[in-house]
Amino acid sequence: FCAGAELNNLVLIGFMGSGKSTVGRLLAAQTNRYFLDTDALIEAAAGKTIEQIFENEGEAAFRQRERDLAAWLERSVSNAVIATGGGMPTVCENLKQIGKVVYLDCRFETVIERLGKSGERAKRPLALADESALKALFLERVEIYRRALNIFVNADHTPMDTVSYIVAQTQ
Ligand code: S3P
Repeated sequence: FCAGAELNNLVLIGFMGSGKSTVGRLLAAQTNRYFLDTDALIEAAAGKTIEQIFENEGEAAFRQRERDLAAWLERSVSNAVIATGGGMPTVCENLKQIGKVVYLDCRFETVIERLGKSGERAKRPLALADESALKALFLERVEIYRRALNIFVNADHTPMDTVSYIVAQTQ
């Protein structure tokens, strides 16, 4: 690692269902970066699914895993598009040190529609809350995402439209 070298990572943040993984994969392919997904990295390191971690270890232990992973990403990763879990900006202070933070903003209705697809809700413990509790969490999170971002992106459109916009903003 060379101090001051361009890290070149793009860190995607946003609520569950905002499209971080879908957009991230396409964006990585289009910009010649590696694609990393923090939920997948945590699952691989723990040898359990996110649901199992929440169930056996509790949410606080999951958040600690996210902080540990963020510290590792900052130290060790470059040239990547990193899709983060929706709660990471609430517990990780160093996202801007990892790379350019791109916030995928979308309407609550879009979230509900995307999480409505089969299996998408079941693998997210926090998405199992009733709709009004989920909306409250959404509103609370939007404030946090706005404070954490470098680049604001509207992600209500198709993944390819979102990718094109991000490419134009980050070149
Ligand atoms: C969470 C979002 C999930 C996952 C976990 C908690 C959250 O990731 O990290 O279920 O607190 O918003 P996605 O945003 O990829 O669904």
